[in-house]
Amino acid sequence: MKHTAETLLSMKKSGEPIAMATAYDLLSASLAQAAGVETLLVGDSAANVVFGLGSTTEIGMEEMLLCVRTVCRCASGTYVAADFPFGADATPETALANAERFLAAGASSVKIELPDERAWKALEALRARGIPAIAHLGLLPQTARSRRQCARTDAEAEALLLAGARADSLGVDAVVVEHVPDAVGASLARSVKAPVIGIGAGSGTDGQVLVFHDLLGLFEKSPPFAPRFVEGRALLAEGLRRYVEWVKTRGASPR
Ligand code: KIV
Repeated sequence: MKHTAETLLSMKKSGEPIAMATAYDLLSASLAQAAGVETLLVGDSAANVVFGLGSTTEIGMEEMLLCVRTVCRCASGTYVAADFPFGADATPETALANAERFLAAGASSVKIELPDERAWKALEALRARGIPAIAHLGLLPQTARSRRQCARTDAEAEALLLAGARADSLGVDAVVVEHVPDAVGASLARSVKAPVIGIGAGSGTDGQVLVFHDLLGLFEKSPPFAPRFVEGRALLAEGLRRYVEWVKTRGASPR
């Protein structure tokens, strides 16, 4: 079944949690799709986990487009959101042009971090043109000064709920909310129509999203709020170690 904004909404209505994971290439897209992940996010986390850059602000549209095209080709039955890299929404015109490029590459929607009024103007322009979008609230890695949990005070929580309502009124496909208290994640999910997909936002959201490499334990470190479901790095390292031993012993060591 091809997942769409409508199927995600019906999952929210029926109380079925939505699984989203990031994907960047053939392996991540096809493994996630085969495991039953309903929605893929080509995240700007590609900067760190694919391209080895120091920050998500260092990736651009060209690298993102390469990943989006690959993921859409390799997981054609899946809803694929494409993350705006830093600066891709600098003005409403830039946002529109970049969103068209993502949609032409096969994306179902674009995800936009909303730190300020400039980003909201870009989101409004996208929605006015009918471009499907996902709003990203809470911790916003592109502009955050620290990794501390967001919306911890009543006033901050209230502001986040208002931002959720504003995104909802624009008809976004979903809201991603990152690193907020469980109670805030749950209130946001209760207060908006759109599915709320949490990362470090507790189990009361309508779904969860994790970075592919984090959930599979492919790096030594992952954010404290990102659970690891397998220690993939150790498994892969052992396979490679055995391969090198096999080569060095001219095939004498057992595989
Ligand atoms: O870029 C990314 O991977 C993300 C998720 C962590 C939500 O934005």
